[in-house]
Amino acid sequence: MLFAKRLLCAAALASTASAQITVDLTDSASIKTAMATIAYNLLTYYKGNMSGMTPGILPGPPPDGDYYWWEGGAMWGTMVDYWHYTNDTSYNPTTEYSIVFQAGSPDNSFQPANWTASLGNDDQGFWGMSAMLAAETNFDNPPADGPQWLALAQAVFNTQAARWDTKYCEGGLRWQVPLSNNGYNYKNSIANGIFFNLAARLARYTGNATYADWAAKTYNWTEYIGYIDTEYNIYDGGHVEHNCTDINKAQFSYVAAVYIQGAAFMYNYTNGDSFWQSRLTALTNRTLNVFFPNDIAVELSCELTASIQCTTDMLSYKGYLHRWLAQVTQMAPYIHDTIMPVLKTSATAAMKNCNADGTCGFRWTTTTYDGDTGAGQQMNALGALMSVLLDLEYVSPAYTNTTGGTSVGNSAAGTDSSTSTTTYKAITTSDRAGATIITILICASIVSMLMWMSTGENESLGGFRFAGLFGKG
Ligand SMILES: *[C@@H]1O[C@H](CO)[C@@H](O)[C@H](O)[C@H]1NC(C)=O
Ligand SMILES: *[C@@H]1O[C@H](CO)[C@@H](O)[C@H](O)[C@H]1NC(C)=O
Ligand SMILES: *[C@@H]1O[C@H](CO)[C@@H](O)[C@H](O)[C@H]1NC(C)=O
Ligand SMILES: *[C@@H]1O[C@H](CO)[C@@H](O)[C@H](O)[C@H]1NC(C)=O
Ligand SMILES: *[C@@H]1O[C@H](CO)[C@@H](O)[C@H](O)[C@H]1NC(C)=O
Ligand SMILES: *[C@@H]1O[C@H](CO)[C@@H](O)[C@H](O)[C@H]1NC(C)=O
Ligand SMILES: *[C@@H]1O[C@H](CO)[C@@H](O)[C@H](O)[C@H]1NC(C)=O
Ligand SMILES: *[C@@H]1O[C@H](CO)[C@@H](O)[C@H](O)[C@H]1NC(C)=O
Ligand SMILES: *[C@@H]1O[C@H](CO)[C@@H](O)[C@H](O)[C@H]1NC(C)=O
Repeated sequence: MLFAKRLLCAAALASTASAQITVDLTDSASIKTAMATIAYNLLTYYKGNMSGMTPGILPGPPPDGDYYWWEGGAMWGTMVDYWHYTNDTSYNPTTEYSIVFQAGSPDNSFQPANWTASLGNDDQGFWGMSAMLAAETNFDNPPADGPQWLALAQAVFNTQAARWDTKYCEGGLRWQVPLSNNGYNYKNSIANGIFFNLAARLARYTGNATYADWAAKTYNWTEYIGYIDTEYNIYDGGHVEHNCTDINKAQFSYVAAVYIQGAAFMYNYTNGDSFWQSRLTALTNRTLNVFFPNDIAVELSCELTASIQCTTDMLSYKGYLHRWLAQVTQMAPYIHDTIMPVLKTSATAAMKNCNADGTCGFRWTTTTYDGDTGAGQQMNALGALMSVLLDLEYVSPAYTNTTGGTSVGNSAAGTDSSTSTTTYKAITTSDRAGATIITILICASIVSMLMWMSTGENESLGGFRFAGLFGKG
């Protein structure tokens, strides 16, 4: 009897330790409590406020830690939204300080010298989108003698517009910035999608049509080159030496989401233009079909039924997918009833993979905690909850400079940036060591990927190439 009691106790303890988070998705107070727990847990990954550590970044880049530079920028964007959705200001000072610290004084275009040797347009762009979000939400403005949110976003836009490359593939941005980098010869949808997204948002925020022209031109190019196909799938990219025709057909959810959000801003900026509306409707329809089987978000190119093949980068994409789709319902209310029921079902599933202590796993289609943890997984869970909160609380739609946005801009920001491609610091021994390790990782990944390619689960990835898969974002 005694023995049986002890067993029962152990079972009870075990189930307490792994109890699911308690959250009522129809109650905003309950959602905010859960978000606070999950956000606290996310910030345990952040070590940049400890002595001797670099502010603004998550531990990394490999081999020094799991995370590339861009993901810090993505995390602060998540934290801007966390405040915007909850009014919880606990992390605002850290968030503000971190974004400004990594802006890269004195140029303030998110190309700090430490990271330029591995800089991609998408990496820089992620920080730029977080600055843009801070402007759109009227997040705490930095001290007036420092860089301002809007000007930071404009600096990213300007430096990238200057890199628009018509020599190959009739336009588009390359993935990497320094010509010595692997991937300098690759033009991909995430780099161009972020540029499109930023241009669309700058157009709406400032009312300056130059940004809108760039947005339209970038979208057109993505479609023309075949990265967006006639069914509105969005593929990863292609190489300049093949005129960008060797298209890697891997699809990632954040790429789709970055284009959908950009299209929604263009729809709103043009006051309901039918051309942008049809693109937005079709892209959204395709994304709901591709990335939400059974209405639950799945990172289909790496989250396979049999195993998870996602890199650290990829483990964070579902969070952007949820947040950006939710925000689209504000820019384009007509599409609210298409998007929101799916996000709710998906968020409900996501919470089944979070523990009571706010530690969340990765796969949302299981009904239990899977123990696959990290900063990306925490951001995904936060993104899921934000999307549900949007229907329960007043969350102000993105401000513009005529509807209350207070961030100070500078349309010439970044244009005399000293960080042209010719002045990047020489590749050092430690960079080379990093590259070797990345190569080893790529080889290991190719082996495992070949394994899953032969499982037949990835028929949509015909003509698959590896170059775009191992990126820094
Ligand atoms: C750093 O930030 C984390 C998360 O906000 C916090 O828990 C920790 O106490 C902070 N550490 C220092 C030294 O400020
Ligand atoms: C945040 O505060 C504003 C203004 O006080 C309020 O209108 C809004 O409902 C609050 N939002 C949340 C999510 O608590
Ligand atoms: C650059 O690296 C140095 C040395 O690790 C560090 O002290 C500094 O804070 C870093 N700056 C940025 C912007 O990351
Ligand atoms: C908004 O931005 C545009 C473009 O930069 C500028 O011309 C205009 O004066 C700004 N409006 C306000 C109210 O700040
Ligand atoms: C983009 O393509 C559309 C349709 O083909 C065209 O009407 C529009 O002028 C193009 N915009 C730009 C900026 O190239
Ligand atoms: C490159 O591709 C574009 C369209 O994809 C085509 O119009 C152009 O002729 C091609 N150029 C070369 C040099 O093959
Ligand atoms: C643009 O966004 C605002 C703010 O959410 C919304 O009120 C307005 O209806 C949107 N415009 C269109 C054409 O949907
Ligand atoms: C959505 O996509 C499906 C196929 O993926 C198609 O059958 C359907 O007509 C599309 N609906 C709209 C509104 O575009
Ligand atoms: C609009 O943006 C463009 C591109 O950055 C810039 O050259 C131009 O000066 C801006 N116009 C105004 C009125 O701010």
